[in-house]
Amino acid sequence: MFGGKGGLGKTTFSAATAYWLAQQGYKVLVFSVDPQASLSDIFQRDIFGKGAVEIVPNLFAQEIDADQHIREYQDRIRRKILDMYGLDKVPDEIEQYIQAAAAEPAMEESAIFDQVVDIVVGGGYDYYIYDLVPLGHALYYLSMASVYDQWIEKITKLREEMQEYAQVAAILERKKQTEEDQILAELQDIRYRINTSSSILTDKEKTAFFFVIIPEEMAILDTQKAAALFSKFQVPLCGYVVNRVLPQELAGQQIPEYLRHRLEMQQTYLTRIGQLFGDQVLAYVPEFERDVTGLEMIRRMAEAMFGGAA
Ligand SMILES: Nc1ncnc2c1ncn2[C@@H]1O[C@H](COP(=O)(O)OP(=O)(O)OP(=O)(O)O)[C@@H](O)[C@H]1O
Ligand SMILES: [Mg+2]
Repeated sequence: MFGGKGGLGKTTFSAATAYWLAQQGYKVLVFSVDPQASLSDIFQRDIFGKGAVEIVPNLFAQEIDADQHIREYQDRIRRKILDMYGLDKVPDEIEQYIQAAAAEPAMEESAIFDQVVDIVVGGGYDYYIYDLVPLGHALYYLSMASVYDQWIEKITKLREEMQEYAQVAAILERKKQTEEDQILAELQDIRYRINTSSSILTDKEKTAFFFVIIPEEMAILDTQKAAALFSKFQVPLCGYVVNRVLPQELAGQQIPEYLRHRLEMQQTYLTRIGQLFGDQVLAYVPEFERDVTGLEMIRRMAEAMFGGAA
């Protein structure tokens, strides 16, 4: 997972890392939940909402379309209601409720969360690269696992208690309790999916989380704060990658005053980064002469990050 403040290079590093791993022969999926479709931009291909698309051999990219997922989710709920209660048509009041619920912001979040769980639990790739949305939001997603889990646990418990009463009632009424069983099974399945995915995402053996930073004051301050919060959610922080470092050889050349100031400023913050994060800094990545889009720039970025082996 690549995380960090907005616009510092998460998508760039995700794409380059995926590219590099694919070059090493691994089957890789790079995915994002970003509605801005930045993987489409960097790979210069429209992949939004199209599932996993193969970009080059072994390298797959996927952009989740939350709205599409919500519509599918609504349909599944309708079908489940029809199945469970043996109806031909979803009752109007329930249909209204389904529509209203879909408009809630929480619905979008849970649809996204659900898709991420699908991807992570699904298997099929050697590596998954999760190109996160900017910090605050990413934290929110990660915290959802535990919030959901607590909520589901409560509901499941209630259901189980209800079922005990229902069983007594059923014995009295000589009825079978199949619908209660289905709801409970559904809840248990959700719990299983949440627990499996959050245990993968917080497992130090399986998951690595990298912070992207740049040598600027605000980026350093925000990252420090975020790092403290992330550790609360047991995100396995593996280190920092410093992006947009101006080439040092410029210092010895005839350069405009403006550029010299920028170099000096960066030097100050690089020193600060060294003091704060020390050997947790895994790489310094240069600022290129242009933005990183298209496979050729991605390849150059991979080389800058991992060395010339690609
Ligand atoms: N080392 C670099 N040299 C030149 N351009 C870069 C470099 N790193 C990133 N960029 C450019 O900076 C812009 C922002 O990068 P990117 O989209 O990867 O950031 P992000 O952290 O994913 O942003 P967001 O928070 O919006 O998702 C892009 O146009 C990218 O091409
Ligand atoms: Mg991005």
